[in-house]
Amino acid sequence: MKPTILVTKRIFPEAVDLLRHSAEVDYAESDTGLSAEELIERSRGKQAIVSQLTDKFSAAQIERLDGVRVIANVAVGYDNIDLGAATRKRIAVTNTPDVLTETTADLAFALLLAAARRIVEGHQFVHSGKWQRWTIDLLAGHDVHHKTLGIFGMGRIGQAMARRAAGFSMRILYHDAQRAPEAVERELRVEFTDKERLLRESDFVSLHVPLSEATRKLIGAKELRMMKPSAILVNTARGPVVDEAALAEALSQRVIAAAGLDVFEREPEVHPLLLTLENVALAPHIGSASIETRRKMSLLAAENALAALEGRRPPNLLNPDALV
Ligand code: DGY
Repeated sequence: MKPTILVTKRIFPEAVDLLRHSAEVDYAESDTGLSAEELIERSRGKQAIVSQLTDKFSAAQIERLDGVRVIANVAVGYDNIDLGAATRKRIAVTNTPDVLTETTADLAFALLLAAARRIVEGHQFVHSGKWQRWTIDLLAGHDVHHKTLGIFGMGRIGQAMARRAAGFSMRILYHDAQRAPEAVERELRVEFTDKERLLRESDFVSLHVPLSEATRKLIGAKELRMMKPSAILVNTARGPVVDEAALAEALSQRVIAAAGLDVFEREPEVHPLLLTLENVALAPHIGSASIETRRKMSLLAAENALAALEGRRPPNLLNPDALV
């Protein structure tokens, strides 16, 4: 008998086709997603769930899953899933790393450039017909080349960001709970430092840490005050890594110069003050959103789910202890 898989939300069709080769698929083909109750209801009798970051698997929710052997998240981040609870329940959890690294770093660098060179303001200025004449300091922003970039989190995406910055002749500082191997530091020409020095010396600060209790509100009012008044903050990691109210206040008071944000504390809500400011470039959590990459992420999640169901080790298994 074929195993049964729940797909909680619309994904790329190639991934659904792949799943259908080997399994019965209950496809919730909508962009709305399932409520917590619907998720439990629809997961009955399923051995796998292909989920997205908007599906919340708290410990209590996981406790109610019956017979599910794998949750394959279509994202590299998995802060929507209580990994400990899944492991205790012997549910394998997988994510989709690597395939989105370069795409996400592209977006982070795009936001950095957009905030520094005031591209969003420029677009609105031209689009609204306000452009009457060329003037010497019209929308003058900040140089990016030869400046200092501070990277929090020197994992795959942090490293990809560093490679981009090298092309702009930037000096790169980084901070991470774990220092990168010497070979990586040498190859990328990145200097490990403490949080305070990174904040004080960087012209740009870009966040590439996963969301955990250790990184929640990593950047708050105190950290923002440590940054240069000309500094620009970029967040393509997770919204709660930054205290959004404190950031909105800091931007409005020009404690720092600008920000480029792809992620927010309570998506899709955005702090109302941020929506009134000109010195912020906003994007709707599209870090990995290229057609190629989102297709690859969908396929990788499908492969992870199928591997677990076929008794193979999923390529991107996050909790090996679930299988012992
Ligand atoms: C991820 O993969 O974690 C992104 O935030 C969504 O693509």
